Amino acid sequence: MNLDNSKPNVFVTRPDFPEVGINILKEKCLITTWNNSSVIPKEELLKHVVGKQAIFCYSANKIDAEVLEAAGPYLKVIGTFSVGCDHINLKECQKRGIRVGYTPDVLTDATAELTMALLLATTRRLIEANKQVYTGGWSSWSPKWMCGPGLKDSVIGIFGFGRIGQEVAKRCVPFKPKQILYTSRTEKEVAEEIGAKYVEFKVLVTSSDIVIACCPLNDETRNIFNKNVFTNMKKSVVFINSSRGGVVDQEDLYNALKNGNIYAAGLDVTTPEPLQLDDPILTLPNIVISPHIGSANIATRNDMSIVTAKNIVLGLQGQEMISEVK
Ligand code: DGY
Repeated sequence: MNLDNSKPNVFVTRPDFPEVGINILKEKCLITTWNNSSVIPKEELLKHVVGKQAIFCYSANKIDAEVLEAAGPYLKVIGTFSVGCDHINLKECQKRGIRVGYTPDVLTDATAELTMALLLATTRRLIEANKQVYTGGWSSWSPKWMCGPGLKDSVIGIFGFGRIGQEVAKRCVPFKPKQILYTSRTEKEVAEEIGAKYVEFKVLVTSSDIVIACCPLNDETRNIFNKNVFTNMKKSVVFINSSRGGVVDQEDLYNALKNGNIYAAGLDVTTPEPLQLDDPILTLPNIVISPHIGSANIATRNDMSIVTAKNIVLGLQGQEMISEVK
């Protein structure tokens, strides 16, 4: 119960956000926390947000009109522990004058790093090869065994050239690709410095040996990687997605991988998350999947917690946030 009316009430949707941020929040706010580290069920979320001035949430919490309505008129700030905001109804927040803070910048390097890990693991068949060591598949050295496409002399196409896309491009350069292409809503000046060339989406998907999705999920990008696109890709293409599962029609991806329309895929994000153990996509040999760990390095997660907490405190004080969705 809130006995200190001078402090704003904040609902935190799970108990294990890094303490560095939660401690900042505790100094200025009264916190109620959902004490279970699985995703809070919708009906519980609806109950717990009532009367709160702010919500500290993350990408698995759908903050839709119903949640905003349940929270009521005191709700002023949503602080999400993520760069992606596709789980929040931003239009509805804007309509209600609710400010939204998020965590770009602090997770850019970590996510770009994981994208590269996935890219290398997929092109060089690292997981498939590693399994052979433990399952007796490793016999004498063989010249064609476990060969995959390398990055050298490849055409790498990056879809979405924001912070993460740009950092991925920079990390690709030392691997000596023939060319780096990108598609983005606008041409970016920084691309020239990196050595990346702007192309239309159609050109990107038809000419690349490696296609990397680094875009946000929105109405324009939902299911953009679908049967039609996979059919137009090179058969040798490696597809990487570290953005959101929703940018891919996963059944179409499954079929493209199974039928050999594309060579392999590396995913850090899927639909749904987590994947069910009987999901057919898990039966494919030519896919590497990591469980949405793009930003999962310790320092980054601490920084995300600090930024989320500060966004909430600053937002409640009517000040400029560290990172606010505009
Ligand atoms: C992000 O920050 O958006 C990550 O994908 C975690 O949700």
